Amino acid sequence: MANYNLIKKCRVCSSENLHLILDLGTQPPANSLITSSELSLPESKFPLRLFWCNDCFLVQLLDIVSKEHLFKHYFYMTSASTPIVEHFRKYAKDIFEEFLIDQENPLIVEIGSNDGSLLLEFKKLGSSIMGIEPASNLAKLANDSGISTMNNFFSSDLAKNIIQSKNASVVVANNVIGHIENLHDLMKGIQILIGEKGVFIFEVPYLVDLIKKLEFDTIYHEHLSYFSILPLLHLMKIFGLEIFDIKKQSVHGGTLRIFVSKENNFTVKESVQTFVQLENNLKLNKIEIYEKFSKQVKDLKHKILNSLKDLKKENKSLFGYGASAKGNVLLNYCNIDASILDFIIDTTPIKQGKFTPGTHIPIFIPEKINDKGNGDVAFLLAWNYEDQILDKEQNFRSRGGKFLIPIPEPILK
Ligand code: TYD
Ligand code: ZN
Repeated sequence: MANYNLIKKCRVCSSENLHLILDLGTQPPANSLITSSELSLPESKFPLRLFWCNDCFLVQLLDIVSKEHLFKHYFYMTSASTPIVEHFRKYAKDIFEEFLIDQENPLIVEIGSNDGSLLLEFKKLGSSIMGIEPASNLAKLANDSGISTMNNFFSSDLAKNIIQSKNASVVVANNVIGHIENLHDLMKGIQILIGEKGVFIFEVPYLVDLIKKLEFDTIYHEHLSYFSILPLLHLMKIFGLEIFDIKKQSVHGGTLRIFVSKENNFTVKESVQTFVQLENNLKLNKIEIYEKFSKQVKDLKHKILNSLKDLKKENKSLFGYGASAKGNVLLNYCNIDASILDFIIDTTPIKQGKFTPGTHIPIFIPEKINDKGNGDVAFLLAWNYEDQILDKEQNFRSRGGKFLIPIPEPILK
């Protein structure tokens, strides 16, 4: 298969002691929306399977779709999601107050800087900034709006080019290290950027939330690693680095913000031990929890399909809400196509007029919801914004429209 590679070793510890824990079938990349002229052409599909390393306990994909294939046209745009923008404003302020307040013109580097939304907040606070973003459409957007951005994949070689006169005071990476295949080269690059005193701050979705809330649809080809603290401790140690603080965030269904620096730079906060303890108590170091998770996901698929079938039987009109990547995983895993969902609405202009990969459901402008109500059901594929969306769509709900939330268990609201 072109653009595909099966790897045999754990991406943190190189062990071959890897176990298959969940098989989501063969799926097209979750972000590769298609145009109407592509509907009749064959789509590239790749195995989507979750593995667990019995040595460092990293949960990961081993089916690798080439990143050039995945990220060429990336549709995710940070500033399209308002709660994320607010989150970034606060993020920049918190980091600034904790680490940068007495530094003159500190350098902030962001890996996977998207459209520059977070760096803009740091720039407003008086920092020098540099973004690194592989998607050319996003890098161009950022540069056009005055946020200096290198259009490249991050690597240790690139890190050497960035650091010419001084190290970065802070390197940030939000929801990106899970996408990086070569974690060792990433960490080598981080070592170069932060030098003796800098801080690396990254956010990753937390495996514990994925398991507890059955967020199986957050598993897709772009997300190679599903982190808990146990394997991260192992990874940092290899590079003489140390996790000195961990803060739980509520965005994206449960996220950790993790703070790293050279060993012994900072006093390690109690939060680190708290998370280690939690993971040991949950037995993330034993396969049983993953076997149970896998069974629950299979059950959830049947529950979702049954809910949709029941609604169809009652002649309800069904449409999707939010053409998210996770939605595409869910639709493909459950075989939900245009015979079940009439269309999906989404606020992202570049998604409108396109079709979902594999399931070929048309994506329309959000105003399509104005024709709906009276027993119609919006299947919420962007469940991470449930509160905000239900709040926003009060008119639809007062006209008698309902939302079907799929996860962790289908429920009508
Ligand atoms: P996103 O949160 O980016 O998740 P993923 O990483 O799985 O793609 O997806 C949310 C999608 O939902 C995105 O395409 C924007 C869309 N959306 C709406 O259409 N309306 C809304 O009110 C919100 C908050 C999001
Ligand atoms: Zn391992």
